[in-house]
Amino acid sequence: MGRTLITGGLVITAADELEADVLIEDGTVVGLALRGGDTAHTWAGSDAEVIDATGHYVIPGGVDAHTHMELPFGGTFASDTFETGTRAAAWGGTTTIIDFAVQTPGRPVRAGVDAWMAKAEGNCAIDYGFHAILSDVNESSLKEMDVLVDEGITSFKLFMAYPGVFYSDDGQILRAMQRGAANGALTMMHAENGIAIDVLVEQALAAGKTDPRYHGEVRKALLESEATHRAIQLARVAGAPLYVVHVSAGEAVDELARARDLGLNVFGETCPQYLFLSVDNLAEPDFEGAKYVCSTPLRPREHQELLWRALRTNDLSVVSTDHCPFCFSGQKELGRGDFSKIPNGMPGVENRMDLLHQAVLDGHIGRRRWIELACATPARMFGLYPRKGTIAPGADADIVVYDPNAEHVMSAETHHMNVDYSAYEGRRVTGRARTVLSRGRVIVDGGAYLGTAGDGRYLTRGTCQYLI
Ligand code: URP
Ligand code: ZN
Ligand code: ZN
Ligand code: ZN
Repeated sequence: MGRTLITGGLVITAADELEADVLIEDGTVVGLALRGGDTAHTWAGSDAEVIDATGHYVIPGGVDAHTHMELPFGGTFASDTFETGTRAAAWGGTTTIIDFAVQTPGRPVRAGVDAWMAKAEGNCAIDYGFHAILSDVNESSLKEMDVLVDEGITSFKLFMAYPGVFYSDDGQILRAMQRGAANGALTMMHAENGIAIDVLVEQALAAGKTDPRYHGEVRKALLESEATHRAIQLARVAGAPLYVVHVSAGEAVDELARARDLGLNVFGETCPQYLFLSVDNLAEPDFEGAKYVCSTPLRPREHQELLWRALRTNDLSVVSTDHCPFCFSGQKELGRGDFSKIPNGMPGVENRMDLLHQAVLDGHIGRRRWIELACATPARMFGLYPRKGTIAPGADADIVVYDPNAEHVMSAETHHMNVDYSAYEGRRVTGRARTVLSRGRVIVDGGAYLGTAGDGRYLTRGTCQYLI
C-alpha cells in the first residue's frame, strides 16, 4: 500500500497539539516528526505520497460508540443501512462506529450478533464493532456473555426503559452486572424508569395529549435521574463498572457526579442533540416535533449548560450520536395522533465532529477535549485504544485533515445520511473534514467520496481501558 506523509498541519490528539508531520506506512502510523526536526527532513525526501495539510488540523478519525444502523423499532427500521450510515459517518470525519446487535427475547444473544454481523459485513465504509443488547437476561444469556467477551464483544446494553421490548428488571440487571464484574464486560445502561413512564404515557393519551411534545413531558427528568441512581447502586452492589448512555437531564448528571466523587467506575455519555436542541424543537407545530423524538428525550434549554459543564469536568466522558434515523415521511408519521407510536431516534452520525468543533469555537470545550470526547475516550472505554482514537506510532492511520475555517450549513439537501430531514437544518457551523483516511486509504477528499462499501473491517475489541 506504500507510504503517505501528511505535512504542514497541526496534529491534535487528546494529549497534544503539535506542529508535526505524520508518516503512514501500509495503513499504520509509523511516526510523527516535529517540524524542523531531522526526521521530517528525512521523510520529505522519501517516496511517500504527500497530503498537504497546511492551515488544517490533523486529527484522529472520530469514534462513534453509539449507532443503530437498520435498528428494528416500533414496526419499522432505522433508515440508514450499514452502507449508507457508515459512508455518511466518513463524510463527517468519523472512521469507527460501534453499533448494537440486538438479542430477541427467547433467542440466544449469539443469534442477534450473527444477524448484525451479516448486515454489516461487506457493506461498511469504515471499521466497526458491536456491543450486544441483552433483552432477555437468563442463565444461558449470562453464559453467552463470557464467550462474547472473549471474542471481542466486551460491552452489553441493558434497558430500564421499554417494558415488553428491551426492558430488564432490577434482578436481571443485577445478574448481568455481576457477570460483567467477573468477565470484564462493561454494562451500558439506558437509564429511564420505563414502568413509570408507561403509566404517564397511558394517562397523557387518555387526556387527549397526543402531540410529539408530550413525549418529552412524560419521560421526566426525575425518571431519568431515578433510574440513573438505581443503576449506579446496582453496579456498586455488583462491584461492576457502569456506562450510562445518552444522558440528557441535569439531575442525572448530578447522580453521575456523586458516584464519580466517590471514585466509582461510573461513566456517562451524552449526544449532540442534547447539547444543541431542546423541548422547543419537540414543540414545533404540524407534527414537525416528531423529528426530535428520541429517548432519553430532549430537555428544556437550561439542561444544556449542565451537560457542557459535565463534559468539561469529565462527569460526562464521551459524546456519541445514538444515530438512529427514521424518515419523517412514512416513519415518524406512524405516530400521528399518538406520540407513543413515533419511532424513537434521531440522525446525527455525520454531524457530531462538526458540532463539537463548533462547541470549541463557542468556548464550551477546548480543542484537545474535543478529540478526547469524540475519539480517544470512546476508543479507550470500549477497548480499541491506541489502535483507534489517537495518532501515534502503531495506531491505525484513521486520520482526518480537518479545515477549522470551512463554514457550512447543515441540511438534508446536502447531507449523506439516508434520512429525509436534518435535525440541524439551516444551522451554520465552522469546521469540516476535508480529507478522511481509513487505515491509510483516502476515502473522502475535497467533496468526493473515494471509498467503497466493504472497505470497513470488523473490530474485535478488548475490555474497557478507562477504569480507575
Ligand atoms: O431514541 C433512541 N435513543 N433510539 C435508539 C434506541 C436507544 O434507546 O438508544
Ligand atoms: Zn437507549
Ligand atoms: Zn454555553
Ligand atoms: Zn441508542
